[in-house]
This record gives sequence, C-alpha cells and structure tokens, in this order.
Amino acid sequence: VGAVSKPDPSRDALIARDALDPLAPLRESFDLPPGLIYLDGNSLGALPKRTAARVGEVVDIEWGAGLVRSWNTHDWIGAPGRVGAKIAPLIGAAAHEVVVADSTSVNLFKLVCGALGLRPDRRVILTEPGNFPTDLYVLQGIANLLGNRVELRLRPRAELADAIDEETAAVILTHVHYKTAERWPMDEITARAHRRGALAVWDLSHTAGALALDLNAVGADLALGCGYKYLNGGPGAPSFVFVAERWQEALASPLAGWMGHAAPFDFVDDYRPAPGVRRQLCGTPGILGLAALEAGIDVFAGVDMGEVEAKGLALGDAFIDLVETRCDFANLTLESPRETARRGSHVSFRHPDGYAIMQALIDRGVIGDFRAPDILRFGFTPLYLRFVDVWDAVETLRGVLASGEYRDPRFNRRAAVT
Ligand SMILES: Cc1ncc(COP(=O)(O)O)c(C=O)c1O
Repeated sequence: VGAVSKPDPSRDALIARDALDPLAPLRESFDLPPGLIYLDGNSLGALPKRTAARVGEVVDIEWGAGLVRSWNTHDWIGAPGRVGAKIAPLIGAAAHEVVVADSTSVNLFKLVCGALGLRPDRRVILTEPGNFPTDLYVLQGIANLLGNRVELRLRPRAELADAIDEETAAVILTHVHYKTAERWPMDEITARAHRRGALAVWDLSHTAGALALDLNAVGADLALGCGYKYLNGGPGAPSFVFVAERWQEALASPLAGWMGHAAPFDFVDDYRPAPGVRRQLCGTPGILGLAALEAGIDVFAGVDMGEVEAKGLALGDAFIDLVETRCDFANLTLESPRETARRGSHVSFRHPDGYAIMQALIDRGVIGDFRAPDILRFGFTPLYLRFVDVWDAVETLRGVLASGEYRDPRFNRRAAVT
C-alpha cells in the first residue's frame, strides 16, 4: 500500500486551508453570533444577512402597503415556481421540474400516493428500517389509509436493492441518512428500480445545498426535501418537490387543492390539475416563509456545488481525524462512513453519554445535536464554516470529555428538542 499523505492536522495548517478556500468569502453572507461554532446547519441553517431585510420588505411594503394586490403586483402567486426554479440548479433539475410547497412530510405523502397511482397493478412500497421517522410514519399512514391496496416493506440496506422486484411500485429512500450520513448510490438504486418497473422517490433533506447532485443525469423520478437545513430558509421553511418532466402529466396529487388547479380563479366545481409540477401545490402558499427561503437560496447564486460538496466532505474528514487523534482517550465511536465518498456533509459519533456531552459542548459555544439513543451529530455547512472551526470545535470537545463536566446534572436533563 502506497503512502497516503494526510493533511497536517495542526491549527495553523487549517488556517492555511481557509486562506485557500474559494468559498471562504460566503461566510460574510451570514449573521453568525460571535464566538460560537455552529455545527448544526444540517438541522437548522444559519440566518443569511439578507433575510431580515427581505422579509421586512415583504411585510412592510408588499403586505402592509400592497395588501391583496401583491398577489399580482409582487408576483406572490408565482413565488412557489420562482423559488423552485432557483433550487433546480442545486439538484440537477430543470427549472420547470421543481416547485416549493407544504412541508417535507406532506410532500412525501403526495409523491408516494402519486407514484402508487402510476403503478396501479403493484402494491409494495419499499424503504429501509431506520429511515427518518417522518418518512416511515408517512408510509405507514399511506398503508393504513389504503388498506389492502398497499404493503409497506422494510428491508435493511444490504438487502434493499435485491428486494426491488416486480411487485414494487416505489422505493422511497433518504439519500443521505439523517443519523449516519451514509449515502445511497442514487444512480444504482434508481437504475435497479427502473429495470424492475418501479419508481424511486428520494428524500433530499440532507443533500440539497450540501452535495452536488444531478437528478436528471441519474434519471430520478420524484424527489423532495427540506428548505430549512442546508438551504437556510429558516425554521419550518417550506419544502421543495421535484417531478421529472416525463412524469408531470401523469402524476396526480392526492391533495387536490385549488392552487394546484389549472385555473384557480375560474372557481369551477370540478378539479382539473394544473399542467406540470404546479399541480403539486395544494393550498395558498405561505409568502413570508417563501420570502425567507428565497433569500437563503439566493446565497447560492454563482456558487459551484462541486466546491460546496468537496469542502463539506473535507471539513468532515478533518473532524474525524482530529477527534480520533485528540480525543482518543474517550469512548467515542465513529458512526458515519470513514470513506469520504460514502458520506454526506455531517459526521456522527456514538457515546453512551452522548446527550450530556452535547449539552456541555453547547454550553461552551459549540452547537451540534443529539439523536437518540447515543449519537452526537455534527453538521459541516460549507458556506459558513471554516477549517479552523473544526480544530476549535474538537479542542472544545476534548475539554468537555477530559474534564468530565458533562456529568453535571444540568447537562443530563432532557429538553423537548434534542
Ligand atoms: C430526512 C428527513 N426528512 C424529513 C424531515 C422533516 O420533515 P418535515 O419538514 O416535514 O418536518 C427531516 C428533518 O430533519 C429529515 O431529516
């Protein structure tokens, strides 16, 4: 085995990497509290500087002064499609294949019901155990709603590809796993699904805005994802939906609402779906949420997603190396793939006292999160994190572990949100 040269793990070496980082200036686009290292942009993205002004303008000028006229004069009615078109290049979709609507959970319901409608002679929907809870719950809900028409099958990762068969209507997976950050090979799974006549539905919540993705190159059918993680749209930001052009005229939404009607302002009694991806709209879009999401996505204008992915993964690699060398006395086990190409933009370690350690870390100004039962999760958002932050975060973690301060009862009281 030839010698693999690892980057020099000194703090100065990381500062030198920051000096060469083409994305470094983007940090200035965010309002980050001073003295804090934010490693949770995979849960709630940081606040872009432009967001408050933009939302204020929508409130004061468009809503306050424009009132109902703004549906036309400020094109509120076009916002779901306009913001969707801005997300499209981040995920390798065409502008007319993406729309912003509802929440990720609701969009999953719509797309999976729609996929079942495209495969009326098939009854199996397939996913993996340990998928994000809302994905599992929504699929359980669909199976309960449709009774014998649908069977939900769970197959472990290693067996999943082989489990896609002629009974499968759709396989539903989260591209980057929310706990481990392990990536599914989207191209292989999609190709396998197509060979068996099934559709693939991808949850891109931990992918969009973090990894370079080319949905159309892999022949993806349907996808959706969160607006509040790497897209920086704000708490509870609306979600996005991707429908490949070839499915748009056949795919029906089970939540037929007036905003997805071909002519909502004709006020006719009978539902007639809008052409294209717009039929995935249901009710009136939340304009304040859309404005914040649009401001978040505008930060990506002109940004090369290949560079974003490379930096996020490099930050994760540096973090793994440093934790394993500088915190080697602690009982931490890497839960994420060590192999860079199999990982998304976050890194997880297990520790029996994971919850308390994370609370102590947050108390010292390094914010990550905890996922039961024992996972410390650290997100590496390439737009606003520096390599030196990785060093400083690991030093803080080392201090928390070495001092044992996490054993303090105040760090062991579970909050509602972890
Ligand atoms: C993979 C995945 N899907 C869905 C969601 C959340 O969906 P919603 O925005 O509907 O709460 C999350 C949230 O963390 C997630 O990680």
